Amino acid sequence: MNLKSIVTLSLLLSSSLFLSCVDSTTEIKEKIQEERNTQIVEVNAEANIQETEPKTEFKQYNSTIAAQEEAEIFIVPQHNLKTQSTNRWYELDQIEKGKKLYDQTCIACHLQNAEGTENWQDSLDEGGYPPPPLNGSAHTWHHPLAQLHEVIKYGLIEYGTTMPAWGSVYTDKQILDLIASFQSYWDDETYNDWIKRH
Ligand code: HEC
Repeated sequence: MNLKSIVTLSLLLSSSLFLSCVDSTTEIKEKIQEERNTQIVEVNAEANIQETEPKTEFKQYNSTIAAQEEAEIFIVPQHNLKTQSTNRWYELDQIEKGKKLYDQTCIACHLQNAEGTENWQDSLDEGGYPPPPLNGSAHTWHHPLAQLHEVIKYGLIEYGTTMPAWGSVYTDKQILDLIASFQSYWDDETYNDWIKRH
């Protein structure tokens, strides 16, 4: 090997070393940038959740019921509620109205502040289950708005439980007020899970 080829070889070696160094630095930089971007997207997503005003659909459902009731042609509508927000679908005065009704009738079984019975998960000898809490600690959030409305309106007697039908006692609008009243005990997490699920 002559001197020239030694110099060329060492030049080649050092430049490839340098290049591989640049390579891995670029890689690291790209990785960091990628992670940052993901974080930014996540933060933005969270911000969007807070900014959206998704209660329109619920509100529509609310006012549709009011309108249909006036026209006496109430049908529980099927709806798709894929929104996210801590904004609630009901107005504050509905909670107050609902609580008054709740304290006249539902309280006898579902107890104070919709807390339900302690042993609500144990099946009864005579069939069915004891009245569950409606305050968000049990499974009420598994049911969409229209289904909750139906359960209260038509009851669950036919399924071997003691949940009466309230359709002849309360109007459709009053049933919505009742739902608003017990949903007011749901924390935002439960409420958001409910919204996401239905
Ligand atoms: C005589 C007792 C009794 C009364 C009064 C009563 N309920 Fe119930 N309710 C029950 C029982 C028992 C269940 C559980 C049925 C089951 O096993 O699925 C139930 C279930 C429900 C559910 C479904 C809950 C869920 O998580 O699936 C709702 C909603 C509900 N009741 C609302 C009401 C409202 C609103 C009133 C008042 C207008 C009311 N109930 C009055 C006994 C009662």
